[in-house]
Amino acid sequence: MERTFLMVKPDGVQRQLIGEIVSRFEKKGFRLVGAKLMQISTELAEKHYAEHKERPFFGDLVEFITSGPVFAMVWEGENVIATARQMMGKTNPAEAAPGTIRGDYGMIVSKNIIHGSDSEESAKREISLFFREDELLSYSRPLDSSIY
Ligand code: TYD
Ligand code: MG
Repeated sequence: MERTFLMVKPDGVQRQLIGEIVSRFEKKGFRLVGAKLMQISTELAEKHYAEHKERPFFGDLVEFITSGPVFAMVWEGENVIATARQMMGKTNPAEAAPGTIRGDYGMIVSKNIIHGSDSEESAKREISLFFREDELLSYSRPLDSSIY
């Protein structure tokens, strides 16, 4: 089953949105297979956002993502990578549709509440950056047979 890496960013944690965000993915039917509250080191932040290292916002981005606790998660389910991106909404909350997480709770691009992997390749990379294999669980739920 497909897995993705999602993370409530420091602004989302400060805004007390962890529960709301977890709830959306839970209600959709996706399965949480790993989660932790953590503070990201500068080294990890630079690796995680390596694709952006030449962009003008890179320094601020690393500073922001390391500024306070984040809630890192791995979610599992059919097409979870693309569907989670849809549920998050566009990168800039000003352009994100109402009903999406960024559309409902965000205001500016640098504080857009949530991160989500954008492809199978980045999901694999990001999951292994943030989680050890033994921190991820495989299990089924009685409701899974009603979802699939
Ligand atoms: P990006 O990977 O383009 O967006 P997404 O998070 O939707 O995959 O950018 C990573 C983060 O960098 C983005 O969530 C917020 C920040 N960012 C800025 O601060 N300014 C910008 O102009 C862009 C494009 C992103
Ligand atoms: Mg991205």
